[in-house]
Amino acid sequence: MLTKNDFQIIEQQELAHDIYRVILHGEFNYAGVKPGCFVMLKLPDEAYQLRRPLAIAACDSVQKTITLIYRIVGDGMRLLSKLAVGTIVNILGPLGNGFSLENVDVGTEVLLVGGGTGLPPLMMLAQVLKEKGCRVSTAVGFRTASMIFGETEFERSGQLLLATDDGSRGFKGNVGELLASQTTVSKYTNVYACGPEGLLKMVQTRFVPTETAIYLSLEGRMACGVGACEACVVSTGEGTFNKCVCVEGPVFNGREVIL
Ligand SMILES: Cc1cc2nc3c(=O)[nH]c(=O)nc-3n(C[C@H](O)[C@H](O)[C@H](O)COP(=O)(O)OP(=O)(O)OC[C@H]3O[C@@H](n4cnc5c(N)ncnc54)[C@H](O)[C@@H]3O)c2cc1C
Ligand code: FES
Repeated sequence: MLTKNDFQIIEQQELAHDIYRVILHGEFNYAGVKPGCFVMLKLPDEAYQLRRPLAIAACDSVQKTITLIYRIVGDGMRLLSKLAVGTIVNILGPLGNGFSLENVDVGTEVLLVGGGTGLPPLMMLAQVLKEKGCRVSTAVGFRTASMIFGETEFERSGQLLLATDDGSRGFKGNVGELLASQTTVSKYTNVYACGPEGLLKMVQTRFVPTETAIYLSLEGRMACGVGACEACVVSTGEGTFNKCVCVEGPVFNGREVIL
């Protein structure tokens, strides 16, 4: 069930350079949340009529909280970062299909690949896969050490491979180069990725020739979030601009979606 409810900010914290975590309290269809689902957040300022899509990084049906992690890219996210504890924001959700959890069982080898703002949905996914008994490896990339976040969450779920473009922490280079340096990438049953288009294309190039199932979560621009405006359409093998990321995604079969 989709709801549009007011939530109160109960925590707002800067995690890394220009990266914030906000925890919101309110009524929600918590049972309907899967890793990879997102919400459309309405800022409490009439200048911002369009809601902003943000992935659910964590949620707690007992405490009635959802956690969002966001990077300041424009005025909307900057305004969100300035909202104090106690402020009310409106949340539409849960939205999207979420990551497929088919073919995962105790001992299944899974790889999560993320960069920048693609990490929040992977945090919830890593936790759920760990609870299912999977062997979780996560490869993440950041521009530089001051932008790193999520280390504790990913390490709690399994092995973390970390890269920075400038080599200030971990492997020096991007996530693609990091994966290329590993000898074990063929062992994974499933790969799940979220991040910039270049990262998703790299995952396609690397894993399409293998047996690994590929799930890509897209973060294109959105306006309505509910399939009404067609601002978010992408192409799949079945046709041209034929799928709405907001309703039929944001997670797609990596062998079908055309980036
Ligand atoms: C399903 C989904 C889940 C998302 N989850 C997260 C998340 O968990 N954390 C997070 O930080 N961001 C996430 N995003 C991206 C987030 O929605 C945008 O960063 C946000 O809407 C920007 O709002 P703004 O007002 O700050 O920027 P705007 O003023 O709208 O834009 C500022 C600049 O950022 C660019 N930009 C805006 N949106 C995007 C985008 N989606 N991708 C690439 N460039 C963009 C614009 O082209 C412009 O150059 C998600 C997007 C989608 C579609
Ligand atoms: S954002 Fe309007 S159709 Fe997807």
